[in-house]
Amino acid sequence: MAGREFEKSYQTGDTPWDSGVPSAELVRVLNAGLLPGKTVLEIGCGTGTNAIAFARRGYRVTAVDYVELAVRRAREKARKAGIEIDFRVGDATRMDLGGPYDVVFDRGVYHGIRTGNLQGFLKMLERVTHKGTRWLTLAGNAKEPMVIGPPVVTEDEFRTSSGRCSRSSRSASSGLRSTAKTSGLSPGPS
Ligand SMILES: C[S@@+](CC[C@H](N)C(=O)[O-])C[C@H]1O[C@@H](n2cnc3c(N)ncnc32)[C@H](O)[C@@H]1O
Repeated sequence: MAGREFEKSYQTGDTPWDSGVPSAELVRVLNAGLLPGKTVLEIGCGTGTNAIAFARRGYRVTAVDYVELAVRRAREKARKAGIEIDFRVGDATRMDLGGPYDVVFDRGVYHGIRTGNLQGFLKMLERVTHKGTRWLTLAGNAKEPMVIGPPVVTEDEFRTSSGRCSRSSRSASSGLRSTAKTSGLSPGPS
């Protein structure tokens, strides 16, 4: 989906991914202590549920989405929860996001952008990461048959595309650690 389509989805409420509760996969990874560090960048934060979940765990969070309406809702949710998050509006592939961050997280962005602007996404990852950054991406799982659902990614495809990110290919052991965690999305188009 492109920016306009996402904007329309938020306007009409056609946002099946927006469950209002933190992603179970993210919670599992956090509970397992797999995301060390202090700072998080969330790409495509939507209405901020997962950004808030990170912040509740003590991370300093920057979160970006190109749909202004979604970010407005995210800011309101964080304000009500008394949580400070640096929410930004814009296309993550084209803006200065600061950093580098210890953790980069996206739920439902890589799996959509990879067919349209993979290069832009990987270049952005290089700009916002340092050696040791963990990138956690939650994507539709090609192994889980779904009639209607998010775009799906195979493990091979993920490894090939993330391997094209110079930071991750420079060092498999201590460079950017990328994790394709699949089935993080409830069925619905994205
Ligand atoms: C499938 S939705 C998931 C939203 C949120 N991560 C969640 O789990 O509720 C993907 C989100 O990424 C945003 N997005 C996609 N590409 C983006 C980009 N290049 N820059 C900023 N936001 C983007 C969309 O506007 C949308 O809110």
